[in-house]
Amino acid sequence: MLVFLWLMLLAYAEFVSTADLNSNVYSSPPSQVRSIFLLAGQSNMSGRGGVINSTWDGIVPIQSQPKPSKILRLSAGLQWVEANEPLHRDIDVNATCGVGPGMVFANTLLNINPRIGVIGLVPCAVGSRMGTKISQWGRGTYLYNQLLRRAKAAAALQVGGRFRIRALLWYQGESDTTNPQDASLYKMRLERFFTNLRVDLKLPALPIIQVALASGQGPFVDTVRQAQFGIHLRNVKTIDARGLPMQPDNLHLSTPAQVQLGEKFAKAFAATG
Ligand SMILES: *[C@@H]1O[C@H](CO)[C@@H](O)[C@H](O)[C@H]1NC(C)=O
Ligand SMILES: *[C@@H]1O[C@H](CO)[C@@H](O)[C@H](O)[C@H]1NC(C)=O
Ligand SMILES: *[C@@H]1O[C@H](CO)[C@@H](O)[C@H](O)[C@H]1NC(C)=O
Repeated sequence: MLVFLWLMLLAYAEFVSTADLNSNVYSSPPSQVRSIFLLAGQSNMSGRGGVINSTWDGIVPIQSQPKPSKILRLSAGLQWVEANEPLHRDIDVNATCGVGPGMVFANTLLNINPRIGVIGLVPCAVGSRMGTKISQWGRGTYLYNQLLRRAKAAAALQVGGRFRIRALLWYQGESDTTNPQDASLYKMRLERFFTNLRVDLKLPALPIIQVALASGQGPFVDTVRQAQFGIHLRNVKTIDARGLPMQPDNLHLSTPAQVQLGEKFAKAFAATG
């Protein structure tokens, strides 16, 4: 009897806390979000599609449209909210964000497999103004801690639900192409980052889908690409950005490129079974 009353009270408290918030904020969709995806890396993962001279054109392609009850996003304040572009606007705060691969990924995945359930995206990429190197993502760094904290929060918000972090989508390395030392240490640092993250999340087989660079900010692109393709860890898939169209700034992937990339991510994930 006591247990029953206690449960009633809990349900009521949850109802009140949800009702307080505006309708597209979900403080507790425990059993809803079935599949959580972590998005990390630098500017191209954060999304610069449609950004020209620090202004986003506001154009959202059909493949990136929001699906209010199906695709949620973990906000900087750690709440599940309706996901829409630019996904990283409250995370990569020192840059103008535009279209990235995340929304396309989620929409494509829902098309491929409608039974995947509600998708929870956890944006963590930071391109900022200078880009972010792999050494800035090492265990104990600000970016690493933020990724871990947000991943754990996403999981903890799933109390009683069938929470599952399904994969990390990773797109980084452009900033490590400018000097030979960073480029030659890239493979070791990347493997260590993936391994540490899996250990700290207690998900030793967490699928990781990473992007091989098409070009970079410096001359050592091939060294970094070879490192990416040479990763010796299970459950790491590599998709290729080579050939994708760039923004007029020649620095970032354009919106159409991000659409192609998001679809590649979804197909690669779907193929993990
Ligand atoms: C962006 O800024 C540059 C330099 O100020 C200018 O030449 C160019 O026309 C601008 N482009 C757009 C699309 O506003
Ligand atoms: C934004 O810039 C401020 C001031 O330079 C810095 O302290 C902060 O870490 C930056 N945040 C991100 C996400 O880049
Ligand atoms: C974005 O990705 C493209 C393709 O890999 C690459 O050429 C470019 O350097 C990247 N931009 C930044 C700023 O990292």
